[in-house]
Amino acid sequence: MAVTIKSAREIELMKEAGKILAYTHDELEKFIRPGISTLDIDKKGEEIIRSFDCIPSFLNYNGYPASICVSVNDEVVHGIPNKHHIIKEGDIVSLDAGVIYKGYHSDAARTYGVGEISPEAAKLIEVTKQSFFEGIKFAKAGNHLYDISNAIDAYVRPFGYGIVQDLVGHGIGSHLHEDPEIPNFRQRRKGIKLQPGMTLAVEPMINIGRCDVEWLDDDWTVVTEDGSLSAHYENTILITEGEPVILSLNI
Ligand code: MF3
Ligand code: CO
Repeated sequence: MAVTIKSAREIELMKEAGKILAYTHDELEKFIRPGISTLDIDKKGEEIIRSFDCIPSFLNYNGYPASICVSVNDEVVHGIPNKHHIIKEGDIVSLDAGVIYKGYHSDAARTYGVGEISPEAAKLIEVTKQSFFEGIKFAKAGNHLYDISNAIDAYVRPFGYGIVQDLVGHGIGSHLHEDPEIPNFRQRRKGIKLQPGMTLAVEPMINIGRCDVEWLDDDWTVVTEDGSLSAHYENTILITEGEPVILSLNI
């Protein structure tokens, strides 16, 4: 599938989807506390998304059974919410959510510390978030796709963390996953030339330890192979001639 350039109308719809998604994340951040289950987070997220007459895009996507991916500690992404999995003080919790507004998608992820967390965990969360912002400094028309990948890699590498390679960011629009794939690690080629109207989900996934990941028997939950903590940060962005517009962040 070719990389699509969105029309002004499509961009408006994606802006609206992004605002609703940003609001959903902001509400979930306030909701997370020790004692709730990962399923409570999913239910709350779904309720917020549906209150805007939006559809949670992950629900039933390739058979994924929930609206919000909740990935705790060594879970990298795609954790399945479960009423028996109780959040506790010191956990780090990655929430990944998607909304569909009038046929258009927005996709974003955040990682939060619950109560008091270790300095090492806090640093991982901060570096993962910052790596997104370092990457998108290069997300403008005329640059190449892998300028983003290389900037994320160059920023993260000195911390000694493992950059997940088995999962990547992606184009987004009328589908959750569109071309191109967006790796978060160094590429030897340049990749496609970025053009105004491209919409991308940039989503670094970073492990404190090694980069290797594995899939649990549920066929969804991705965990670090070495059991180390992992963080995830993602937004849907719009390429312009100048600074990218972060569609899924309300400021
Ligand atoms: N942000 C995730 C991604 O881009 C979406 C979760 S996939 C789902 O892959 F299957 F859980 F929906
Ligand atoms: Co995504």
